[in-house]
Amino acid sequence: MPALSVVDLTLSFGGLNALGEVNLEVPDRSLFAVIGPNGAGKTSFFNCVTGYYRPTRGSVRLDGREISGLPVDEVARLGVRRTFQNVRVFPKLSALENVLAGAHLRTSANLATSVLGTPRARRHERELAAEAQRWLEYVGLAGKARVLAGDLPYGMRKRLEVARALIAKPSVLLLDEPAAGVSSVERDELADVVGKTWREGVTVVMIEHDVELVMRLASTVAVLDHGRLLAVGAPETVRNDPRVIEAYLGRRRSQGPWSQA
Ligand SMILES: Nc1ncnc2c1ncn2[C@@H]1O[C@H](COP(=O)(O)OP(=O)(O)O)[C@@H](O)[C@H]1O
Ligand SMILES: [Mg+2]
Repeated sequence: MPALSVVDLTLSFGGLNALGEVNLEVPDRSLFAVIGPNGAGKTSFFNCVTGYYRPTRGSVRLDGREISGLPVDEVARLGVRRTFQNVRVFPKLSALENVLAGAHLRTSANLATSVLGTPRARRHERELAAEAQRWLEYVGLAGKARVLAGDLPYGMRKRLEVARALIAKPSVLLLDEPAAGVSSVERDELADVVGKTWREGVTVVMIEHDVELVMRLASTVAVLDHGRLLAVGAPETVRNDPRVIEAYLGRRRSQGPWSQA
């Protein structure tokens, strides 16, 4: 069974279809890239899957279960976590506290006991903090636990967001342009984190403009254009698809996804 099945997904803003009848399946444990020009509907797709937007029509299934229209918290609880195109960390909280915030949903059942401050709750808090520290290490931020997130460089904030998503042990991780605006060194670090997360069995869906990164990491690539699914398949196949080339050439050659490849 696919991790995500999307059927006739449509999202309208007034007269504009940010998504128009998108049909696709994200294979379980795949590393699935979504590409397409700015405004193609890529972030809207994530917003519909994660409950930030309610689709106008259509269906999104997670392991066969309908999730479209569910609230954000519920979708997260079911195992779908995301990062944002414009990083959303809590700038006044430490890196460690930011990661802990991602565990909150997972432990909300224990909230009552932690409010009571029982020894068991305190032990639980310590264990969680140790786990958050391990996730910081996982994304290469071991030494930054006490640094305020707002004081971290951009690339580190992006990896911090990944750690915050991962502490919840999601089955599906959605990354919205994880490598945009970061240095080439940071991009490689990010690629390492994405690759090892995928190898551990997480289904990763990644919106990304960096073609080299997409070709290196993705097992499947989907191309969106004006809210429509233009092509989906293996990276090499999609790269040579005349409709994909046409869609990009129809704008400006320099905007093409493969222009530097
Ligand atoms: N909340 C919104 N209100 C109105 N239009 C929106 C909203 N969100 C997205 N759009 C429009 O939907 C289209 C797709 O946007 P988006 O999904 O952000 O594209 P991408 O991530 O591929 O760049 C764009 O034309 C954008 O202006
Ligand atoms: Mg976007």
